[in-house]
This record gives sequence, C-alpha cells and structure tokens, in this order.
Amino acid sequence: MRIVKLDAIDSTNSYLKQLITNETVDDGTVVTANFQTNGKGQMGTQWNSQASKNLTFSVFKDVRFLSVEHHFYISIAASLSIFKTFKLFNIKNVTVKWPNDILSENKKICGILIENIIKQNQLQSSIIGFGINVNQSEFNNLPNASSLRLISGYFFDLDEILHFILKELDYYFELLKRGDFEYLKEEYESYLFRKNKPSTFKNTEGELFSGFIKGVANSGNLQIIMEDKILKEFDFKEVTLLY
Ligand code: BTN
Repeated sequence: MRIVKLDAIDSTNSYLKQLITNETVDDGTVVTANFQTNGKGQMGTQWNSQASKNLTFSVFKDVRFLSVEHHFYISIAASLSIFKTFKLFNIKNVTVKWPNDILSENKKICGILIENIIKQNQLQSSIIGFGINVNQSEFNNLPNASSLRLISGYFFDLDEILHFILKELDYYFELLKRGDFEYLKEEYESYLFRKNKPSTFKNTEGELFSGFIKGVANSGNLQIIMEDKILKEFDFKEVTLLY
C-alpha cells in the first residue's frame, strides 16, 4: 500500500483528487498531512486541526464494484472502521452520529468527508477523508468537539492509530465487496447515536422537531418516527440531528 506523507497541504482530499486526474492511483493509496491550510468539512464547512497533533488523511478506494444505489455503504464502512479502532483503544462510549461523525461521550472526535467520482451513473472511485482529533487538548468555541487525549487522558501514537484504521477499513471493504449489505447496515445501526431515544432535529427552515431515530434506509436517508407516529425519511441536507 502506498502512503504519501505530506508536511503541509491545502487538503488531503483535494490533493488525492488532483493526483487521480494526473496518474493511475492504486486502490488503498493514503495521503496524510501534518497540517492542512484549507481542510474541508461536510456541507462546505472548514476542518481545523492543530499541526501534528491529530490525524488528517484521505484514502483512495476503487469502488467500481459498487452500484450507485449503495453509495451510502462507503460511509458505513468508513464509520465502522473508526468505531472499531476506537473500541480497540478502549475509548469510552463510542457512537456514530448519522451520517458519519464518530463520537465519544457524546462529543465529536472524528469527522469523515467522502467525495465520490461517478461517471455515467457508475461509481468509479471514492476519496474518503478522515479528520480525527487525537492529541489536541483545546477546542475554542467548539463545545461539541473533543479528542482521544481529552477523553482518555493518554497521548497516542498517530501512526499506530492510522495502521489500525487502515486494517479495519480493508476488512469492511471486503464485506462491501462480498455484498454483505444487511450485515453492514445492522452493525452501523446498532452503534447509532440516539437510536430509539427521543431526539431533537432541525429542518432546513431552522425549525426544531422531535422524533425517534429508527435506522437508515439503503439510500442513507435517516428514518425518524415523528410525533404523530408516522415514519419519515430525511436526507443529509434536509435535517440535522442536534447533540
Ligand atoms: C466533517 O465535517 O465532519 C468532515 C471533516 C473531514 C476532515 C478531513 S481531514 C482530512 C480530509 N481532508 C479534508 O480536507 N477533509 C478531510
């Protein structure tokens, strides 16, 4: 497996995206950076991370074997690889906040940004970017963020964590290749933050509503049982689950 280690770059996702337009890149190629000058988060946000304290990396996956309808399973495999690694390091109370934030003690420790390349309605490749708060100990103005260090009190070796994540990612991609969708979804749903608990959501108009998370559809839509007991599905842009 090829690992490209960079000192500083705008964004490891952007770097990999550029790389695949210039050359043939092997499945599983990883790009890490000690510092990103323009780290990208979900929905056009920025991902800020102190230099050399955290893991910021992207993995290139050839996903031609997967149908577009199953694209959310990339997110499931990526989330489970982090979930499993955190468990291995004895991190407490790990959950997955839909669609793919990994929390410990209800605080965000890892964010994932997946950028898929689709041609003629066929998935080609996926760039999976991981931002993991590892040894950083201050998060100014980010009350919902934390790090492995703050949660556990320990310092972590970044390379060691990366090694385990890549191993878990390989494992979950093998399941994906075998088409074990039901198993993957069941595992993902069993770790969902606030599943079957009364929860508050915000819609695109900024209005709050309550409901119970039931699970996810194959499309990745969140299934919520509303106050009138009707089951509704929401996509990522339509709803935010509050902490
Ligand atoms: C989120 O908003 O939760 C997703 C954050 C993803 C951040 C990672 S850091 C490595 C990779 N490169 C980027 O520019 N973003 C992702």
